[in-house]
Amino acid sequence: MRTEQPKMIYLKDYQAPEYLIDETHLTFELFEDHSLVHAQLVMRRNPARILESGGGLPPLVLDGQQLELLSVSLGDRELTAADYQLSANHLTLQPASESFTVDTSVKIHPESNTALEGLYKSSGMFCTQCEAEGFRKITYYLDRPDVMSKFTTTVVAEQHSYPVLLSNGNPIASGPGEDGRHWATWEDPFMKPAYLFALVAGDLWCVEDSFTTMNQREVALRIYVEPENIDKCQHAMTSLKKSMRWDEQTYGREYDLDIFMIVAVNDFNMGAMENKGLNIFNSSAVLARAETATDAAHQRVEAIVAHEYFHNWSGNRVTCRDWFQLSLKEGFTVFRDAGFSSDMNSRTVKRIQDVAYLRTHQFAEDAGPMAHAVRPESFIEISNFYTLTVYEKGSEVVGMIRTLVGAEGFRKGSDLYFERHDGQAVTCDDFVKAMEDANGIDLAQFKRWYSQAGTPRLAVSEAYDAAAKTYSLTFRQSCPQTPDKVEKLPFVIPVELGLLDAKGAAIALRLAGEATAQGASRVISVTEAEQTFTFVDIAEQPLPSLLRGFSAPVKLSFPYNRDQLMFLMQHDSDGFNRWDAGQQLAVQVLQDLIAQHQQGQALVLDQRLVTALATLLADDSLDQAMVAEMLSLPGEAYLAEISEVADIEAIHTAREFARQQLADSLFDGLWKRYQANREVSRTTDYVAESAHFARRALQNIALSYLMLTEKPQVLAAAIEQFDAADNMTERLTALAVLVNSPFEAEKAKALAVFAEHFKDNALVMDQWFSVQAGSTLPGGLERVKALMQHKAFNIKNPNKVRALIGAFAGQNLINFHAADGSGYRFLADLVIQLNGFNPQIASRQLAPLTRWRKYDSARQALMKGELERIRASGELSSDVFEVVSKSLA
Ligand code: TRP
Ligand code: ZN
Repeated sequence: MRTEQPKMIYLKDYQAPEYLIDETHLTFELFEDHSLVHAQLVMRRNPARILESGGGLPPLVLDGQQLELLSVSLGDRELTAADYQLSANHLTLQPASESFTVDTSVKIHPESNTALEGLYKSSGMFCTQCEAEGFRKITYYLDRPDVMSKFTTTVVAEQHSYPVLLSNGNPIASGPGEDGRHWATWEDPFMKPAYLFALVAGDLWCVEDSFTTMNQREVALRIYVEPENIDKCQHAMTSLKKSMRWDEQTYGREYDLDIFMIVAVNDFNMGAMENKGLNIFNSSAVLARAETATDAAHQRVEAIVAHEYFHNWSGNRVTCRDWFQLSLKEGFTVFRDAGFSSDMNSRTVKRIQDVAYLRTHQFAEDAGPMAHAVRPESFIEISNFYTLTVYEKGSEVVGMIRTLVGAEGFRKGSDLYFERHDGQAVTCDDFVKAMEDANGIDLAQFKRWYSQAGTPRLAVSEAYDAAAKTYSLTFRQSCPQTPDKVEKLPFVIPVELGLLDAKGAAIALRLAGEATAQGASRVISVTEAEQTFTFVDIAEQPLPSLLRGFSAPVKLSFPYNRDQLMFLMQHDSDGFNRWDAGQQLAVQVLQDLIAQHQQGQALVLDQRLVTALATLLADDSLDQAMVAEMLSLPGEAYLAEISEVADIEAIHTAREFARQQLADSLFDGLWKRYQANREVSRTTDYVAESAHFARRALQNIALSYLMLTEKPQVLAAAIEQFDAADNMTERLTALAVLVNSPFEAEKAKALAVFAEHFKDNALVMDQWFSVQAGSTLPGGLERVKALMQHKAFNIKNPNKVRALIGAFAGQNLINFHAADGSGYRFLADLVIQLNGFNPQIASRQLAPLTRWRKYDSARQALMKGELERIRASGELSSDVFEVVSKSLA
C-alpha cells in the first residue's frame, strides 16, 4: 500500500547515483513466520558525481519498503536512531569517508507477501521477483539499474522443507546448520543491478541437461519444478538449447556462466524473469506436454524461454541506465525472440500473429489515456510501463532499424552495441548510436519513434500517367494527439512495397532519377508530412502492395476496392500482405454488416468474401497455417479498435452473422479439410513442430465454423475429438466449440469430464476457466461469478485471475459491455479487491475500463462512474492510482 503521496518521476531529472556498491554480500535466514536479511554493502562515492558536485559527502539515501530495521552499521560502528533517518521508503545515513561498508539486518514477511514482489512464498517455496523495484522490499539498497554490484548470497533454511537453495551465479559452498537447517552460498561473478537478483528455496526436482558453447565450454542446464511436474519440462529444455545455439549463430552471443537455471513457480505476476543465471518463470511459461498444453502454449513456452535467455545479453550484460530506458532491453529482446520463433516455425505466420496482436492491443493502448512513447518521459509507477508499447512497439522500432540498415548492417550494429557497452547501464540513445556508428548513417529523425507516442496514420494515394508511363504514390503522414500533448513531427516510415501488373506479376521498380530498376520489392523511407515517389517505365496501371511484412507500425490506408483486395490475396508475392488483403476485405464486408445492423436492415453478406475463402480452402498446395490464419475473421476487439465509436453489439452481431454464413456456404470444403486433418491427428503421435501446428490449426478453425451449422455429424465429430484426442490442442478446441454451442447436455458433460480429469492440474484448469469466461452466449457474467466459487479458483493466484476475469473482460466483449453496466461494476469491484493485495494485477485488470472513450455516451458514463468509484474506494496503490487518475483526467 501507498505510504507517501504517489509522485511523478521524470526522465529529465535523471542524475547518476551519488554512491556505488562494488560488492553486495547477502545472508537470508528463512523461517515460517518471518525472514531475516543481513546485507553488507561495500560502497564508495561515485567518481562521476565528485567531478560534478565537488568533494563533499552527500547523505546516502538507501531505498527500502516494508522492512523492519533491526540494526545498521557504518564500517565498524553500529548506529543508533540518532545517526540515521528512517522513513516509509528510505534509510538515510551520513558517510564519513569516500569508501565504506554498510551493514544492515532487516526482518521481512515473505509468508504474507501477496503482492508477489520482493521475497514471497508460492506453493510452499520461497522465491523472488525484483524487477523493477522489488529489491527494496528485501533489504535497504540503491535500488536502481545503474548501480551494478558483485553479489554473494548465502541462504539458510530448514533442510527438510527446503532441500534446494538457489541464487544467482555459481554455487561455491554449502553445508549443514543447526536445528535441521542447512545453507548454501552462491557467487555471481558478473556485476548486475539489484533487479536481476534472485533467490529460491524449496522442495524441487530438476531436469538436467548440458550445452556446449561455441567456444567448447560446458554449461549445466537445470529446470526446477515441483515433483509432480517433472514430466512437463522437456519442451522448455529443448527450447532453451535451441535458444542458446540460435543466439550464437544469429547474434554471436555466447552464454557466460557454468550453470543456467530455470525455476517454475505457480504464483507470478508476469510471464517470466531473466535474473542472472537463475530465471524464474510462471509455471505456465515452462510446463508443456501434449496432454496438458495446447500448440499455442508450446509456442509460448518456446518464445518465453528464448526471451528470458536472450536477456542475458540484451538486458543483463548490457542493462538499462534507468527505467525510462526499459524498451532498450524489452523492445530489443522481443525483437530477438520474434526472430528466433520465426526461424523455428513459420516466419509469415509469426508475423501475422504479432501484427494482429499489435494492431488490436498496442494500437488501442496508443489511443487511450495511458498512451506513452516507447521511451516514456514520466511515470508514477514503473510497473505500469511494462506495456505493449514498450515491448511490442519497441520491437517494431528495432525491426525498422534493421529494415533501414539491412541484415548485415544490423548485425554490425548489434555487435558494436554489445562490445561497446558490455558491463554498462545504458540508454536507448546508446543503442541507436551503435547502429549509426556501425553503418555510417544518421538516425536523428528516426529517433522520434522513441519520443513520440501515438500510432501514425499513413494515407496513400496513386496517380498513373499512361502517356508518360509513370506511376506516383503520394504518402501523407499524421499522428493523433496523445495525453502528453507532445507536438508530433514527421516520423521516418520505412515502407516496403511492390507493384503488380494485371497478371499479378511483379513490376521492376525504378524511381525517377535512378539509372536502373532496383528489384521488385523495395523499401522507401517516408520522412516528410507529405511525399510523392514516382516510378518510371510502368507500362500499365499497376496495383500497389504496400507496407509488406508490416514494415512500420502505422495505420496505412489506400483506397482498394474489394476486387483488388481479392487479387492481392491471390497474387501478392508477400505472404503477410496476402493475409492482410484478406483482412482488409473482411473488414470492409464486416463494416457493411455493422452499418446494416445499426440501420435496422436485414444483413446481407458480400459473397466475394465467401468466394475468396472458398478458393483458399480448395487449394491443397497452400500452407495450412496460412489458410487457417486467412479463415480467421478480424477479431471483435480489432473491429472495435478501428471504429470511431465501438458498437459492440453491432460488431458482435455482424461478425457472428458472417461466421454463420461462411460456415453454411463453405460447409463441404471445411468438412473435407476437417476430416482429412483429424484423420492424420488420429493416426499419428503428437509432435510440437510447425507442420503439425499448421495441420491442427486448420482442423480446429474448420471445426469451429462447422459447429455453427449444428449438424449432427459435426456434433459427433466434436465429441469424438474431445473424447479421443491425445493432446490438449484438439481437446480444448472441442471443448470450446461445445461450450459455445446450444447442445446443453453435451456441453455440461464435456465440462464435467474435463474438470474431473484435470482437477489436479492448475494450468489445465486455467484453460477450463478461460473457455467458459470467453463464451459469448448470454449470461456470461453469471457464469463467471459462479466459476469464482469453484474450488479450483483462487483470486490470490494471478493465472486464475487472468484466466477467468481477464478472459471475460478482454475477450467476451458482448457480455462485458452489457448495457446495464453489470460487467463494469463487476470488474471495478474486483480491481478494488485486488488493489488490497496485489497492486500490479489490479492495475492490469483495470485496462478495459480505461478505454471508455471508445463507447457510446451511456456506456461512457457507466465506465467513468466505475473508475470514480475505484478512485474513491480508499487507499489506492500507486499502480491503480496512476491508471485511474490518468483515465479520468
Ligand atoms: N523482465 C521481465 C520480462 O519481460 C518482465 C517481468 C517479469 C516483470 N516479472 C515482472 C516486470 C514483474 C514487472 C514486474 O522478461
Ligand atoms: Zn523481457
